[in-house]
Amino acid sequence: MQPIGGAVRPDGKIAYRAQLLYFTASPEQVANSDATVYLSDGLLIVHDGHVVQAGDYQMLAASLGADTHVVDWRGKLIMPGFIDTHLHYPQTDIIASPAEGLLPWLETYTFPEESRFQNPEHATRTASFFLDELMRCGTTTALVYCTVHPESAQAFFEESHARQLRMVAGKVMMDRNCPDYLQDTAESGARDSETLIQRWHDKGRQMYALTPRFAPTSSPEQLALCGELAQQYPDVFIQSHLAENTRELEWVRELFPGHRSYLDIYDYFGLLRPRAVYGHCIWLDETDRRRMAETQTLAVHCPTSNLFLASGLFDFAAASASGVPVALGTDVGGGTSFSMLQTMAAAHNVARMSGHHLSAHSLFYLATEGAARGLDLGGRIGTLAPGAEADFVVLDPQATPLLARRTARAESLEELLFALIVLGDDRTVAATYSAGRLVHSRDQY
Ligand code: GUN
Ligand code: ZN
Repeated sequence: MQPIGGAVRPDGKIAYRAQLLYFTASPEQVANSDATVYLSDGLLIVHDGHVVQAGDYQMLAASLGADTHVVDWRGKLIMPGFIDTHLHYPQTDIIASPAEGLLPWLETYTFPEESRFQNPEHATRTASFFLDELMRCGTTTALVYCTVHPESAQAFFEESHARQLRMVAGKVMMDRNCPDYLQDTAESGARDSETLIQRWHDKGRQMYALTPRFAPTSSPEQLALCGELAQQYPDVFIQSHLAENTRELEWVRELFPGHRSYLDIYDYFGLLRPRAVYGHCIWLDETDRRRMAETQTLAVHCPTSNLFLASGLFDFAAASASGVPVALGTDVGGGTSFSMLQTMAAAHNVARMSGHHLSAHSLFYLATEGAARGLDLGGRIGTLAPGAEADFVVLDPQATPLLARRTARAESLEELLFALIVLGDDRTVAATYSAGRLVHSRDQY
C-alpha cells in the first residue's frame, strides 16, 4: 500500500489489478454494453499522474516491465473518481439544519455561517476538512462555491493546490438582498473575481468559476460585469442557482420584470454557454430547456437537497429529451450527504416519482464521464481511457455485511452497480486516487 499523499515511484509505472469500469457514451442513448468498457479482471496502468492503459490483466501482464509495481485490488471495482458539480464548502458545518424551505434556510443558517469565512484561518481549516470528506466519498473533482470573501476562495485554492486535486471554485458575488456583512459591490465583486482568475485559473489543477450566487442577490449591474468577465475569459466556468423553488421564482419575477423566464435573465447577461453550470433547474419550461441545450449550458440535478428543502422534483426525462446536458450535485449543505453514491440513489428515486427509470449504468455515467463532458473536460477526467488524469476510486462490493450479501447475489453488472448505489456511502470507498496519488485509504483509519 502506498502512503497517503506519498510520492508514487517516480522511476516506474504503477498498475492496479481489479475489475475496471468506465463509460464511452451515455447509457440513456445506447445499450449498456456499447456505452461501457468493463473488464472483470483488469489492469490499470498509471504513470506520471496519467492513465497509460486500461485493459485485460492477462493481455497486459506479460508486457509489464520489471519496474512496474502491481497493486492488487482484486475483488474491488475501480472506476473514474466521482464529479460533484455543485456544492458549498462554507456550508460544511451547517449540513443537516432544518428549515421551512430554501429562503428561510438561507436566512437562518447559511448567511450567518458564511460570515465566518472572512477569517482565513477558519476558511483554511474548513477547506481542509471538506476536501478530506470529498476524498473519503470518492469525489475527485467538484464545483465549489466559496463565500463572498476573496479570502475564502484563496484558502480553498491553496488547500486544493497543495493536494494537487482537480477542483473548480469561485468567490460568490452578491451585492444586494443579503445581510450587509456579506455584500460586495458590482465593481469590487468583479475586481476580486478577476484577481482570483489571474491567480488561480489553470494554476496546477485549479480552475476558476465566476460565481454570482443567484439572480436575487445580484443587481443587474453586477450580472452585467460578470457577463463582461465571462466574455473576457471564455474558458473560465460560470456557476449559479436557477429555478430551485417557487417562492424564489416569484421573487425573481418581481426583481427582474420584463424577462420571459428566470433563465432568460442569465441569458440576457451572456451567462449561458459551455462551462456555464446551473444548480437545480427544477422550474423550467420547454423554451428554457431548448435554450440550455442550444447553448450547451449544464443543468445540475441536486436530488438530496431538493427533497430536504422540498424544492421540487427535477424532470430528468424532459431534460434528457430536450438535449440539456445534465450532471449531479450534492449541494452540501442544502444537500444531506457528501456521498455521490447516496446522491445517485436519490436521483433514481426522484426520477421514479415521475415514471422514469434511471439505470445504475446511467447514474454512474452522470457522476463520471457525463459530468466531464458537461463541463467540457471530457478526456481529461471522468474516464480511465489512456491519457486521462489518473483520478479514480476503488469501490468495495463487500463494504458492509448487507452489501456483501446483496452483491453476492448480483446476476449482472447492472445489478451489482445498482446495489453499490442504493446501499453505498463513504464506507463503500476503499481508496481514492488523485493524479495517481493515494489520497484516501479507508482501512488506514
Ligand atoms: N440559492 C442561493 N443560494 C443558495 C444556497 O446556498 N443553496 C441552495 N440550495 N440554493 C441557493
Ligand atoms: Zn447550492
